Amino acid sequence: MKTMTIQSKDKEPHEIKQDFPVNFDNLEAKAKEILPLGNFEYIRGGAGQEQTMRNNRIAFESYAFIPQLLNDTSSIDTSISLFGISFPKPFIFAPVGMNMLEHPDGELAVIRAASKLNIPYALSTVSSYSLEEVAEVAPDHTKFFQLYWSKEEEISFSMISRAEAAGYRAIVLTIDTTVSGWRTGDLKINFSPLSQGFAKGNYVNDPIFRKNLLNGSYENYIDGILKNIDHAHLTWAHIEKIKKHTKLPVLLKGILHPNDAVKALESGIDGLIVSNHGGRQLDGVIGSLDALPNITKVVNGRVPVLFDSGVYSGVDAFKALALGADAVCIGRPYVYGLAIAGEQGVQNVMMNLYNELVTTMTLAGTSSMEELKKVELVKRNNQM
Ligand SMILES: Cc1cc2nc3c(=O)[nH]c(=O)nc-3n(C[C@H](O)[C@H](O)[C@H](O)COP(=O)(O)O)c2cc1C
Repeated sequence: MKTMTIQSKDKEPHEIKQDFPVNFDNLEAKAKEILPLGNFEYIRGGAGQEQTMRNNRIAFESYAFIPQLLNDTSSIDTSISLFGISFPKPFIFAPVGMNMLEHPDGELAVIRAASKLNIPYALSTVSSYSLEEVAEVAPDHTKFFQLYWSKEEEISFSMISRAEAAGYRAIVLTIDTTVSGWRTGDLKINFSPLSQGFAKGNYVNDPIFRKNLLNGSYENYIDGILKNIDHAHLTWAHIEKIKKHTKLPVLLKGILHPNDAVKALESGIDGLIVSNHGGRQLDGVIGSLDALPNITKVVNGRVPVLFDSGVYSGVDAFKALALGADAVCIGRPYVYGLAIAGEQGVQNVMMNLYNELVTTMTLAGTSSMEELKKVELVKRNNQM
């Protein structure tokens, strides 16, 4: 297999096998060839008729930007700062559960790639490997722990404490998944990786979870996970409890309405992730990018606003950053990379996204994140 090294002044050199897919559609097609149907559909699919997934793409397609030229863009600075830490690239690995569905090394392969690229990594509650095992692979790398609230709240607090002890730098509470979405693709073939034990990493070694397992509260660990995973009773009162429990910054993931952004700020939240979970949870919802401008407006720089859902190219990342996101989280693309070529595949995907972002910034006359935020965008009223 031939390899090529991409190198220019500002783009980072990175060796990519020539037959590694570059664009998102080809990545998805390649992952489909490799993965069993259920595993693939679990990653690809969305809720209901997948209107939300389409709305994510329509939102990106409907924004166009106007470059301003003859600025010296011979040197590009893509660095950002989050919670006092500086990172060279404006990306974050979105939390994605059960990575053993894609590769036996699962989250361990992803954290290795994240740490080599110096991109912060958010680990899911429903990971295949435990938060401690992941931390051990890259103890010094910046990691966030994404929390799904457990019905028995002592388990949630225990996971937060374990994340603190293992060196995670922030807690990301996902608030849009109080029950699992109506995912028609998974339902059609009755595919439930939770029921197959793919999400055991953080539960089976948790002291509170184990106590319940041993005293017979759960029939087995899968029953225990299923008993804890739904938490539709969650309210803003829980946010206050979490804030009291931890000294780490707490981010809320899944914010779409500016009123919720305001409530989050009033609750002392340290950051927001504008997201509709890649259209996997609630169908018929606004494209995540369409929610972003109203939220950055009310937040007005008081806390970082991160963004995800539908960032499939460097140009998509450029548009989200231009609309005010402080960083963009990448989900499905890296998961497909993991399925195709493990750690190397994850690196390839992230470097392709990054190098396309740098090319876009160079050609659009923007040398830094600050300049990128001043780019003018036009919204067209198009339909896909
Ligand atoms: C297979 C899969 C599993 C996911 N698991 C989680 C999870 O455990 N926790 C979470 O907060 N978000 C989860 N997400 C949502 C991602 O964090 C992110 O919001 C989403 O992937 C963004 O959409 P995009 O990948 O289409 O850009 C998952 C997404 C996918 C594709």
